[in-house]
This record gives sequence, structure tokens and C-alpha cells, in this order.
Amino acid sequence: MWVLTVPAIWSDSAKQFMREAAKDAGIEKHQLRIALEPEAASLYCQHIPTETLVDASGAKFGVSGAGTRYMVVDLGGGTADITVHEKQSDGTLRELHQASGGDWGGTKVDSEFDMLLTKLVSAKIIKDFCTQHKSDSLDLQREMETKKRTITSDSIDKVTVKIPVQLTDAFEKQSGETIASVIEQTRYAKKLNWVGDKMRMEAKVFLDLFENCKNNIVGQIKEIMAEPEVKGVSTILMVGGFSECQVIQDAIRKAFPDKKIIIPDQAGLAVLKGAVIFGYNPEQISARVSKYTYGINISPPFQPGVHPENKKVVVDGGTRCRDVFKKYVSVGQPLEIGKFAKGRHTTIKKNQESMILRVYASPEKTPKYVTDEKCQCLGRVVVTLPAKDEKTEYRCQNDVR
Ligand SMILES: Nc1ncnc2c1ncn2[C@@H]1O[C@H](COP(=O)(O)OP(=O)(O)OP(=O)(O)O)[C@@H](O)[C@H]1O
Ligand SMILES: [Mg+2]
Repeated sequence: MWVLTVPAIWSDSAKQFMREAAKDAGIEKHQLRIALEPEAASLYCQHIPTETLVDASGAKFGVSGAGTRYMVVDLGGGTADITVHEKQSDGTLRELHQASGGDWGGTKVDSEFDMLLTKLVSAKIIKDFCTQHKSDSLDLQREMETKKRTITSDSIDKVTVKIPVQLTDAFEKQSGETIASVIEQTRYAKKLNWVGDKMRMEAKVFLDLFENCKNNIVGQIKEIMAEPEVKGVSTILMVGGFSECQVIQDAIRKAFPDKKIIIPDQAGLAVLKGAVIFGYNPEQISARVSKYTYGINISPPFQPGVHPENKKVVVDGGTRCRDVFKKYVSVGQPLEIGKFAKGRHTTIKKNQESMILRVYASPEKTPKYVTDEKCQCLGRVVVTLPAKDEKTEYRCQNDVR
């Protein structure tokens, strides 16, 4: 059995891509389980001793009590993935709010630093440096990783980043300017000093690299906390490697002073360990919230004044409206695992040999037509119909679950 984890905010097609990649890698369908990362992390936290789940003030967090509601914030390298869970009396977890987030993971800080360098020496010099001096560019990445892990939000000491000297050499040779004179013309004048292989900057300049990530993560948590479905959430569980970042921890503590902020030991491994638990028992998640509205395209009889003329088609002598979105599941709707949405479809032509049901997803609550801008076709189901009877012409009905 293989468990591959994906961010919960990924689209259906991104998850499908993962399945196909797994297949290409030789993993059989029946040996593959896709786990959503915040769910895996949440499951992991059910299995660690409560004593280790304490916030900065020493308050304990018990995930064992039925009805406990908490937010899981999974901050990784690429993504921030936020979900809200409620513990059920049977021990399973129920998702109360659909996953949301964005690309505000730890590597965003790295790319902000790249942007700073780009402003000073140009994108071309950086690109050439990365291709011509691969090992030096890896050293720079490692250096950034170390600095990211040591900075704290109240740092006042200057931050020194060691930058391979090839970068300034190339810049000064190509531009004929000195790096110091360039810095003087930017907003980093007097705040940042770059001599030889050392870039020294005020702590504030380095901390600014976290600003976008911080604001986006805090803003998203605030938005979710304001939703009625998540009322009563008093705890934020921070997991993922970037949750170990002290600057981000402080920002969240400051923005939510009345919430318990829990960061388990080895937050960066919570997803991995939880994925193993999920692999053994995927039924531990009992309900999720639909991220999209799902439906099937149908062609009902055309109603003048209701349906637009450009969607009118003539089939078997009657007029029909094509591309109508028949909704099965609404965005935000709770979906119990193992339950089905049901509907009935009738063929529109007589003696049809098969029925093609195209499945669509849309972020809108009530999409009207499958051709609406935000609608996306996920795939199609072909239902083969019974062989036609020579004498009688008939239409066929099929139930869909
Ligand atoms: N102590 C720390 N301080 C600051 N950042 C850290 C710390 N530890 C890890 N990170 C950052 O966390 C990120 C990696 O986190 P994690 O291992 O959870 O990512 P991932 O699960 O691979 O990514 P994703 O969830 O986006 O798919 C890196 O960007 C790393 O720089
Ligand atoms: Mg992750």
C-alpha cells in the first residue's frame, strides 16, 4: 500500500494528475491511497499524548473530546492549507469548512529573497549564476534555509547572508558599476551593505521577506474564523515545516490572542506520520465539505423565455436546451463518506445505444450551464443501454449515484 499526500486545496484535476503519475511510476490502483495533508496531520495529532500539545501559556489541547473543533493550518514549502475539523463521538473526524489557502509556504520567503537579489543585480545575472555555478547556488539556498530558521520576529541584530562572490563579480564586470553604488540608489540604501561574499542587512529588511506570507496566512485564517460553520473553534493546530518558523508562529499568536495556538513537536513530520495512520484506517474521516458544485450536463425540453435561443437544439422533432447543468452536490455541502447523491436521467433520442454523462465541477453555488466560465469538465461516464427492440421505439431511464 502506498499513501501519497496532497494539499487539500488542490483541484480535482491536480489530484487526478497525482494518481496518473503514481500509475506511471508502477503503483497499482488498488495499492494507492491519496491522503489530504491537513487530514493526515489532524489524525496524527489524535495519537500523540495531550501533554505534548500545549500552547505558549501551557494550556493543554485535548483532541479526544467529542465535539472539539479546531483549525488545522498546514504550512509547507509550497502551500498553506487550512481546514477545520470536529471530533465525532465515534472517534472519527468531520471537516467543517472546506480546505482553503494558497501558495504561501516557506519557499515564498526564498523567492522574495531572489526578488531582492534580482532588484540589485538583474534577473539575467542570477540566471547565469545559477546555471554556471550550480554548487555555489546550492550553497546560497542552504544559507537562506539556515537564516530563515534562526531569525526571530523580535531580532534587532543585523542579519548576514553569505553570498558566493561570483555573483557580485559577474555583476560588476558586466555592468561596470559597483554593487555598493547600485544599492545606494535603491530603497535598501543605508539598510543593506554588500561587500565581497557578505550581505549584511538590518533585521527588518530580512523580516520583510516574510511579510507577504504572513499577511496572506493571517488574512485567510481571519476570513475562515468569521464563517458561521466554524463557530466555537478555539484552537489553531499548526503543522508542516513552515509552522516551525518562529516569525510565522509569532504572527499567528499576535493576530489571534484569544485562541490556543498548538504546534506539536516535529510539526514538519505530522503530515508524514499521519499519512501512515490514514493508510491503515482511511475511515477515520467521516465527512468532508464539498469544495465545488458537481453536476451533469442535460438537455431538457426547451422553454422559450427561460432558456437562451443559442442553446436551442432540435432532437427527434422536439426542441431541447443543451448544456444545462443538473446539480448533484453544492459547494460547501457536507458530504458523508459512503453516502450518495442520486438522480435519474432519460435518453433524449429514441433507441439510443448509450448515454454519455459528462461530469462537471464549478466553484459557483448554482451554475446554470456547463459552458459557464468557471465550469470544468472532469470526465464522462458512458452508460451502455440495452440492445434496442426492432419493433418498439423506446427511451431509456437510468439512475445515477
Ligand atoms: N524552523 C524553520 N523555520 C523556518 N522555516 C522552516 C523551518 N523548518 C522548515 N521550514 C520551511 O518549511 C518548508 C518545508 O515544509 P514541509 O516539509 O512541511 O513542506 P512540504 O510538505 O514538502 O510542502 P507542501 O506542503 O507545500 O507540499 C520549507 O520551505 C522550509 O524552509
Ligand atoms: Mg506539506
